[in-house]
Amino acid sequence: MNVYRLLIICLTVLASLIYSASARCQQSSARTTLLAGTDDESTEKGQKKAEEASVRPGINERFLNKDLDVSEWLGRFEIESREVYAQRESVLRECALRPGSAVADVGAGTGFYSRLFANAVGVDGQVYAVDIAPRFLRHISELSRTDGVRNLKTVLCSERSVRLPVNSVDLVFICDAYHHFEFPQSTLGSIHDALRDGGALVVIDFERIPGTSREFILNHVRAGKADFRAEIEAAGFAFEREVAVAGFKENYLLRFRKQSANEGNRENQDR
Ligand SMILES: C[S@@+](CC[C@H](N)C(=O)[O-])C[C@H]1O[C@@H](n2cnc3c(N)ncnc32)[C@H](O)[C@@H]1O
Repeated sequence: MNVYRLLIICLTVLASLIYSASARCQQSSARTTLLAGTDDESTEKGQKKAEEASVRPGINERFLNKDLDVSEWLGRFEIESREVYAQRESVLRECALRPGSAVADVGAGTGFYSRLFANAVGVDGQVYAVDIAPRFLRHISELSRTDGVRNLKTVLCSERSVRLPVNSVDLVFICDAYHHFEFPQSTLGSIHDALRDGGALVVIDFERIPGTSREFILNHVRAGKADFRAEIEAAGFAFEREVAVAGFKENYLLRFRKQSANEGNRENQDR
């Protein structure tokens, strides 16, 4: 009998040893999953922190060429057959600039909008002609000097940042340049920083409608209005309205307003 009892005790101890070993094993595998989860999270965070990849590599090569011939681009940009040039006075009215305002013309090119803005905001206002192309900026500076325009500054920016001081402008204007941004989220982030609270963002770009738009637009412009609008909203701008500019057939004009961090949070809570 004692032998049997001893056998039962041994079996019980053995069973409990097996059970606790298997439980330890499960715990350790659970911890591994948890660690793997943490690793995934940190990888994900790492990806979020990683630099934005170019959405259109090489699109600005011609503008970055140190031998860029400004007169060639004047002939392309400042010509009445181009809608955004022909309708410049209507666009200027839509921007509703007040004397004393600070405006950034991002992707200013040859600068015809910058000059109109400088006139509209007056001596107490400030216009920044912002571009990645040094040759365009040199042209804008030279013209300002010749014409005695004192409230127009050129800013050589990077492909990722407009390099404007924080809270420095009331309106950012982007004409035919958004689709040239290689790193739109980074550039939009810097625009958000540069705008004062409640500041306005005006974007003019090509309508891109497969089956309708010209071949040039379909090949050159990477996305249509709805996609660009969604990108801009995702960067912290509230869509205000689309403005119908008389004479625009191939272009659209969208108005946004900078959302402050508080507004964003409030809207998230409301959802
Ligand atoms: C098609 S041109 C338009 C110029 C001008 N806004 C106009 O409508 O005549 C596009 C301009 O955007 C500039 N550009 C491209 N990427 C830019 C960026 N990330 N930041 C600022 N300017 C940029 C180019 O150098 C070029 O001058």
